Amino acid sequence: MKNSKRVALESVATPERFQFDETFVSKAVKDATDIVLANLSEYVHMYPTAASENLQYGKQKNAEDWVEGFWTGILWLSYELTGNELFRAVAEAQFDDFQDRLNRFGGLSHHDIGFLYVPSAVAQYKITGAHKARELGVRAAEQLAKRFSETAGIIQVRDTDRQGAFIVDCSMNLPLLFWAAQTTGDHSYYIKALRHITQVCNYIIRDDASTFQSFQIDEVIGQPGKGGQGQGYDDKSCWARGQSWVIYGLALAYRYTREPEFLEMGKRVANYCLNRLPSDHVCCWDLIFTGDGDPRDSSAAPIIACGLLELAEHLSEQDEHKQLYYTAAGDILMHLANDYQTPVESNGLLAHGVYVKKTRPGKEGIGCGDDECCIWGDYFYMEGLVRLSKKWNPYW
Ligand code: GLY
Repeated sequence: MKNSKRVALESVATPERFQFDETFVSKAVKDATDIVLANLSEYVHMYPTAASENLQYGKQKNAEDWVEGFWTGILWLSYELTGNELFRAVAEAQFDDFQDRLNRFGGLSHHDIGFLYVPSAVAQYKITGAHKARELGVRAAEQLAKRFSETAGIIQVRDTDRQGAFIVDCSMNLPLLFWAAQTTGDHSYYIKALRHITQVCNYIIRDDASTFQSFQIDEVIGQPGKGGQGQGYDDKSCWARGQSWVIYGLALAYRYTREPEFLEMGKRVANYCLNRLPSDHVCCWDLIFTGDGDPRDSSAAPIIACGLLELAEHLSEQDEHKQLYYTAAGDILMHLANDYQTPVESNGLLAHGVYVKKTRPGKEGIGCGDDECCIWGDYFYMEGLVRLSKKWNPYW
């Protein structure tokens, strides 16, 4: 890996701006789990759509999308937060949907297999010890591992793309491979995940610690090509959710590898992000926007918070970032709880999320889920609340 020192480590400006009072957590947990409970009977073998319309999630089968695992993950988190067996019963009932989907390989020709099978099968195995859930998680990891390109050293994003293409989002699919290596003893999963996150550090993370969403490596000769920005503002900007995926992905890569470079790189991408937040610390949808009047992405903000909490866990007591990241994460989650919760008529948790922004230059009107609830945002918001509530064994 290129040395992390090629990437700028900004100091976090005015760290005292981050503050939180943890008393918000118990009400936020109750509000969130009440909404999940109220929607439980509607979403047993049907799953919330990726984003809401008019703050109402639709329903879809567990067939084609990349997001169905988040609802099952929300149920496991709700079970861990409340002990209510209803949440567990529905999450367990959904096992067959994930198994059937893997059996017929439906809508799985892409790299997001981790998002589908970590918060469902792996979570179920970690919480209940169910052998069949471990087996399903390992089978999912086998499929993800098949996407690895030896020449490019990456997990390829989709079958239809140019070969050798990878995107920042995949940083959060790698824990499926790291976990599979740990649980099976098959080191090849570990090597593939390690090589992929190393290429993320080499090519997706720019010298100023911002990120491209996508990068292309020539699949035949392994020659690096160029980076781009699909869901962000433009090729020079920094898509907030992409930055959030890599903050958390690097922290988890450190958890599994204990490679100090990943912790160092994690600090660099985290500090870049913390220095570009508006005054309520809920990120705008692209980090080139920092004004209080600019549109937010409440679905990226809790991912940042969870990534900061994971980084904080691994930093030494002497590292000034440890307390800072913990406090910044609590502050972000507190602002989400206080100011971004949905109105009562919604079936989601957080308003003002963005799936694909409709105002990207040259792509005006092309987008979806803009200023809506996003199911991954709701998942990571609840994960953040769990992390603040108790010592938690991550599903990732
Ligand atoms: N593909 C994951 C995302 O939209 O963040």
